[in-house]
Amino acid sequence: MNEEITFSGDKASPKDGSRRDFLKKTAVAGIGIAAINISDVVPAVASEPAVVNGIPVERMLVALNVNGKEHTLPIDTRTSMLDALREQLEMTGSKKGCDHGQCGACTVIIDGRRQLSCLTLAAMCDGRKVTTIEGLAEGDKLHPMQAAFVERDAMQCGYCTPGQICSAVAMLEEAKNGDASFATQNLNAIARGQKLTKAEIQERMSGNICRCGAYPNIVAAIEDVQAGGANEAVCIQACSR
Ligand code: FES
Ligand code: FES
Repeated sequence: MNEEITFSGDKASPKDGSRRDFLKKTAVAGIGIAAINISDVVPAVASEPAVVNGIPVERMLVALNVNGKEHTLPIDTRTSMLDALREQLEMTGSKKGCDHGQCGACTVIIDGRRQLSCLTLAAMCDGRKVTTIEGLAEGDKLHPMQAAFVERDAMQCGYCTPGQICSAVAMLEEAKNGDASFATQNLNAIARGQKLTKAEIQERMSGNICRCGAYPNIVAAIEDVQAGGANEAVCIQACSR
């Protein structure tokens, strides 16, 4: 039977022993209840998460197909695709210009679409196909867009060039698929297999900045590839790898 325990101010009731005894009993009971609850409800944690600058770091495994090769990376969930490529896979072809989505130097092709890798979380690309500048050539054979850039001397320092080329390759696919742009004249007449004007190419490539000002030659290289039917199959192959 439970004892009735009462207190009056700081003094324990004489019929139930001292207050100190009561506190000891309840403290022991409390520890017991807490121990039972914790062990029943919370599974054992193997290790504490790392903490950087006071913020716990969550990690996960991400499966990526990069340039046709499968990788499983343990990543901090805050890692950008650009950092995963450069720091973990040591593929430094994709450049970090602004790291804020403003220059296009980090452009890669993800599932056939051009994407800014500095603004893309690697954790969101689990199971997806990524093509970087390193994956466009086939051995010693340059991708037609790479060959056209060389032919047209479409670079000076070359820092923007990997992003320009990846962007241009995927951009021509967008045009072939009938995607509109800000410069599309008639949205009702848009169709697959568009041949882009110079103005359309300039508009569609406007997210890729070249501080050296190689724009005329970049546009000329893209026009060359667009005009070259023989190169088309190679472009599509590289885009879908
Ligand atoms: S580095 Fe990604 S847009 Fe500049
Ligand atoms: S070639 Fe230097 S930034 Fe474009």
